[in-house]
Amino acid sequence: MEEKTVFTTKETAKYLGISTATIYRMEKQGLISSLRTPGGQRRFNRENIEKYLRESQNFEAPQNPSKYKYRKTNFMVEEPEATYIVEDKKTKSNELFSHTDSIWIYNTDILKTENIADNSIDLIVTSPPYNVNIKYNSHDDTMTYNDYLSFTREWLARCYKFIKNDGRFCLNIPLDKNKGGQQSMCADITTIAKQIGFKYHSTIIWNEQNISRRTAWGSWLSASAPYVIAPVEVIVVLYKKEWKKTSGSRKSDITKQEFMEWTNGVWNFSGESKKRVGHPAPFPVELPRRCIKLFSFVGETILDPFLGSGSTLLACLHTGRRGIGVDIDKNYCELAKRRLLTEGQINQLKLNVAGGCK
Ligand SMILES: C[S@@+](CC[C@H](N)C(=O)[O-])C[C@H]1O[C@@H](n2cnc3c(N)ncnc32)[C@H](O)[C@@H]1O
Repeated sequence: MEEKTVFTTKETAKYLGISTATIYRMEKQGLISSLRTPGGQRRFNRENIEKYLRESQNFEAPQNPSKYKYRKTNFMVEEPEATYIVEDKKTKSNELFSHTDSIWIYNTDILKTENIADNSIDLIVTSPPYNVNIKYNSHDDTMTYNDYLSFTREWLARCYKFIKNDGRFCLNIPLDKNKGGQQSMCADITTIAKQIGFKYHSTIIWNEQNISRRTAWGSWLSASAPYVIAPVEVIVVLYKKEWKKTSGSRKSDITKQEFMEWTNGVWNFSGESKKRVGHPAPFPVELPRRCIKLFSFVGETILDPFLGSGSTLLACLHTGRRGIGVDIDKNYCELAKRRLLTEGQINQLKLNVAGGCK
């Protein structure tokens, strides 16, 4: 069958994972162009849609102008194979919150940070906000689904730039969304990641072994409208250009038993207690620890763009990786720092508040 080359507005919106209203706004702003049928209907050709996708790595779709204004990102000058070195004089715009010689915490918006060089990250391990009404200090977790997907497109595009050509990305997200309307979150986010340029490797199922969450059954004992809920999350494993790693120390620290167990893509371990950690949505350190040992070499640079309570940096500390964490909220940066000092047992003197910074 021949590949479809011309799309209606509705089909284009579906393809891009945004609303038709957004398409009209984008067209008005000259971000995407259309043709008109003799009857005046818009038609978008594949070439223009793909041009938009390529360029959208530098901006987000103006979904809801009051919330998400068109914003050109300030990427650093291309530095192929840049080594990430933090020196205070190189640190831009007061974002550095705290650091050692191998761990950096930035208090900033991942959409705006100027401190992460392109092509500098070996592995990203992260869990973004899920948009399920969690009460974060600084982030609105109650967007419309379309706004959420626009936000997702924007931060994924930034992350794509940050990782090296043989860099990898472990993305912890829910399989689906049940509250406030059923949505195929994992499928939608994976599709956006692939549109941005990420390549798909595999999906790990994380069985949190938490069945007590179950409260909604829909139509109890009736076929009229029952709910099916999978008590699992996933870790989607993506990469930039090549799966085979060609850079880095080539030194692995995974044991035979860990390798055998973790290459089976169903992981069974419990979630983390919000109360114990003091954050509304932490993942257990075990999650980044497994991703780091399985997918990166010793000494490599790991980024968590949604640091929260600092779990990924703790895993970096335990595994001898360099870690960079970014969180928009100052209190969570403080919490991450405190956990590194206590659970990570970093010497207070080593975790300096950056000179002249926050
Ligand atoms: C699901 S939590 C991450 C939890 C983390 N994995 C942990 O173990 O604690 C998401 C975090 O993203 C942060 N966040 C939300 N929007 C952000 C943005 N634009 N830039 C940076 N951080 C952001 C929130 O403040 C929140 O701490």
